[in-house]
Amino acid sequence: MRTARLALDPAFTVGPVPRRLFGSFVEHMGRCVYTGIFEPDHPSADEDGLRTDVLELTKELGPTVVRYPGGNFVSGFEWEDSVGPREERPRRIDRAWRSVETNQFGLAEFDAWARKVGTETMMAVNLGTRGLQEACDLLEYTNLDSGTKFSELRKAHGSKDPFDIKLWCLGNELDGPWQTGHKTAAEYGRLAAETGMAMRSIDPDIELVAVGSSSRSMPTFGEWEQTVLELSYHAVDYISLHAYYEEKPGDTKNFLASAVDMDLFIEQVVATADAVRAKGKHNKKINLSFDEWNVWYQSRPHHAEGVQPWDVAPRVIEDEYSITDAVVVGTLLNSLLRHSDRVHIGAQAQLVNVIGLLRSEAGGEAWKQSIAHPFEQMRKLARGNVLQVVTTSDTYETGNFGDVDVVDASATYDDETLTVFLANRDLEDPASVEVPLRGFDVDRLAEAKVLAATEGQDRHTTNRDGDHQQVGLRRLDDVTVTEGLATVVLPPLSWAVVQFRKG
Ligand code: AHR
Repeated sequence: MRTARLALDPAFTVGPVPRRLFGSFVEHMGRCVYTGIFEPDHPSADEDGLRTDVLELTKELGPTVVRYPGGNFVSGFEWEDSVGPREERPRRIDRAWRSVETNQFGLAEFDAWARKVGTETMMAVNLGTRGLQEACDLLEYTNLDSGTKFSELRKAHGSKDPFDIKLWCLGNELDGPWQTGHKTAAEYGRLAAETGMAMRSIDPDIELVAVGSSSRSMPTFGEWEQTVLELSYHAVDYISLHAYYEEKPGDTKNFLASAVDMDLFIEQVVATADAVRAKGKHNKKINLSFDEWNVWYQSRPHHAEGVQPWDVAPRVIEDEYSITDAVVVGTLLNSLLRHSDRVHIGAQAQLVNVIGLLRSEAGGEAWKQSIAHPFEQMRKLARGNVLQVVTTSDTYETGNFGDVDVVDASATYDDETLTVFLANRDLEDPASVEVPLRGFDVDRLAEAKVLAATEGQDRHTTNRDGDHQQVGLRRLDDVTVTEGLATVVLPPLSWAVVQFRKG
């Protein structure tokens, strides 16, 4: 048995749970939009061509914000193609994923989808092949009420009311050589500042996200953030972070410690942003938007067998997620929550099919992948204030991060319920975790759920077409509460949520 002890106190908080931390991402990529959220011929399609089976699953997940329309796609996107009468919209090549974009789903369709889901839109503008003017035109189209060229165009297209989008990404991954319109930090920093200021002159209430590094391993990481923020500090509110993790053969221990990398990434971006703040004598703080993160098996082929260049909605990176992946996703969510004083926005990439929380088949069924469960639980149950958690845990040795805690934790408290999110990274042994309840107005276990392999399964078990319920949550029985101390016993390689209440 491995052991760990948490130190928690209601007086020591990180801050309120940020509403936008539990977001997702819909990119015009592969089958995320077409046969993902939108499939007019599907038996479940509604009057807008939206798949109601996917819609219902999305509502259960409840992403609080959804980034759109890319991703790498946005760096070649001409938004004007995606509005107006559908039959007049052009088919365009998407250089990023070498497929054809039919534009049958566009801005108005996304707005309708977001309203049905009950989520906020986070819109990205193209700063790859386009610039300030097109970004301003798009903002005029989405946010101005009437009486101008693009607001009247929106009305003529049938959308009487503005889409009123508050959150905007100034481009995507422009630090990456793969990005259409890749730029140096100085080129991008100027462009972000100028575009941001011009956009604010149209709508002063918008919030702007500058492009940060595509991963912590980018050769320009650190320097990119510093230069971009030195040039654009006055014009932006957030800097973005992207990170994808995968289990390489024989490297399970490092994979299970992915959240350590995420912790470091966040802390290093905060340090860089605050150094720029000090040097520039700025009062405001730049906060973080972790607007792409997930497990993604990037070293596997991206396109499925048989996919040809310029296919429509090809199968691209349709990773099938295991129990191991779900446990890692749980620890990544813990990392975001632990740092939520500065990480105010999160978007797990992506929503459907493309490294998706959900999967769907054309004309067929839709289901939740294993990784959807920690997301859904944390989105629903993280309430009130995030607590500072000091974890004293048995450790295991990793090549990349030295000794890493076997038990990973985060917690929230809303004056009625203490909620603890736990992961056991040990592949073989259960872990016993002590959770002190003193100081909290709680004295009993309310609910405990766990995701772990059950009889006949192993850590590679997945949900798949025709077998959707293999990986899910079950009741965690091994929780005892005595005199202000709870003891939770986690099965080997597991993720759990445990809630305590009064009376
Ligand atoms: O989410 C998949 C891709 O990953 C996005 O298009 C890009 O921004 C990132 O590299």
